[in-house]
Amino acid sequence: MTSDSTELQSTRAFWNANPCGVHAAFALQKSQRYAMEPWLPEQLLRIAKLHTSILEVGCGQGVDSIVLCSNMKSGSRYFGIDYSEQSVEVAKANAKSQSSSMNVTPMYATGNAESLDFGDASFQAVYSMGVLHHTARPPVAVSEVLRVLEVGGKAYVVLYRRPSLKVGVAKLLRCFQGALDYIFRTDRCIYHVLRSKSSHSKYFGTMFLECFGVPYMEWYSRDEVSRLFSGFSKVELKTYGPNLGRLNPFGKSETKCGYFWWVEATK
Ligand SMILES: C[S@@+](CC[C@H](N)C(=O)[O-])C[C@H]1O[C@@H](n2cnc3c(N)ncnc32)[C@H](O)[C@@H]1O
Repeated sequence: MTSDSTELQSTRAFWNANPCGVHAAFALQKSQRYAMEPWLPEQLLRIAKLHTSILEVGCGQGVDSIVLCSNMKSGSRYFGIDYSEQSVEVAKANAKSQSSSMNVTPMYATGNAESLDFGDASFQAVYSMGVLHHTARPPVAVSEVLRVLEVGGKAYVVLYRRPSLKVGVAKLLRCFQGALDYIFRTDRCIYHVLRSKSSHSKYFGTMFLECFGVPYMEWYSRDEVSRLFSGFSKVELKTYGPNLGRLNPFGKSETKCGYFWWVEATK
C-alpha cells in the first residue's frame, strides 16, 4: 500500500464516520448551518448568479449545493465531489428531496480534491468551503482547482486563518494529543477513546472532532494564502466568523477576527 492511499483512507474513514453537519432532515441541516455561518448564503447567491458552471470540491452533505442549484440559471451545470462516499449519498438524497425547488439538477460523485476527475478549463467557477485545509497536500489541491478553471474563471475557497483563536486552540490540543501518541505509540488516542464512548457522532461537536480526530488540519497566514494561490492572476481576501451563531456580535458581516479566510482567486 502506498503512503498516498493510507492518507486517503484515513481521510475517508474519518469523514464517513463524522459527516460535516447534523444528522437531520434537510430543513434542519440548512437552518443550523446558516445560523452558524450567517455570512454564507449571501456569498452563495452571488456565486450562483455569476456563473453557469460550478464545481464544488468537498460538497459534504450538499446543503450549499442545493442553495447554489436553486439560484443558478436553468441550463447551468453544477458538479459536487467529496471523498466521503457517505456524504455524497446524503447529498444525493437531500437533492432528491429538494428537486422541486432547484433550477439545475446537481450531479455528485466521490472524488479526490488532489486529483480532480475533470478536464482542463472545464468550469467557470470552483467553490470549496472548509475542505482544502483538510487534505494531505493543499498545494496540490489548489493546483487542481486552477487546472479545471477556465481562463478568467474564479475560485471561491474557504480556509482556516492563522492567527485565530478557535483554530489556535485546536492546533494546541492536537499537539498535546500528538505528544501522547508519540509516547504511547498510538494514533489519535484521545479521539479514539472518546469516540468509543458513544456510537453516535451527534455527541461530538466540530470543535472536538477537529481538535482530535480529523487527520489533516492546516491554517494559513495572509502571506501563506498568497503563496498557495500564486498561480492565479488576482487574489482577494476577506475574513469571516467567529462562529458564534446568534451571539455573533458582527452579525452577517465580515469581521477582523474571524477564523476563516474567504479567498476569491481569478485564473
Ligand atoms: C469540514 S467538511 C466541509 C464539507 C462542506 N463543504 C461543508 O461546508 O459542509 C470537509 C469535507 O471535505 C471532504 N474532504 C476531505 N479531504 C478531501 C479530499 N482530499 N477530496 C475531496 N473531499 C475531501 C470531507 O469528506 C468532508 O466532507
